[in-house]
Amino acid sequence: MLSENTKEIVKATAPVLQAKGVEITTRMYERLFNEYPETKELFANTKDGQAERLANAVIAYAQNIDNLELLGPSVVAIAKKHVAVNVQAEHYPIVGNVLLAAMQDVLGDSASEDIIDAWKEAYFFLADIFIEKEQSLYKL
Ligand code: HEM
Repeated sequence: MLSENTKEIVKATAPVLQAKGVEITTRMYERLFNEYPETKELFANTKDGQAERLANAVIAYAQNIDNLELLGPSVVAIAKKHVAVNVQAEHYPIVGNVLLAAMQDVLGDSASEDIIDAWKEAYFFLADIFIEKEQSLYKL
């Protein structure tokens, strides 16, 4: 489970993410495609606005970290999209790394070590939920 301390930090950063979310996720995709060009093909048919959709998902997660069951329906919908383009478990650490790096790029000194550590824990917690859901969909 996520620690109370992590949940508090993640919730406290929701307003910053609301303000800077798209800037962060835009930077994230820039890093993703530069540093891991092999991931580009997964997004070959993706429509515009992907940075907004990812930012919205991240903000919803931060806001609902105490009530993750509320995210259930959107987790299933996103997992189905991921499975349709063949996202795999090994992609999650890659996206985690570039997302955390993008937060540091955009937030600068206000992204303290505590904030980055809390988000790292929270991201991988969410990633495990997606990975499990997607593995069960791949088996169908
Ligand atoms: C916890 C991490 C992640 C979150 C919160 C997340 C969130 C999302 C969201 C909100 C969408 C849009 C769904 C829609 O259009 O309705 C999406 C689509 C997508 N995601 Fe993720 N994602 C995550 C991890 C990943 C990873 C690791 C990859 C692999 C590099 C990935 C690749 C994609 C692709 C390719 C699409 C577009 C599918 C399409 O064009 O239909 N995502 N994701």
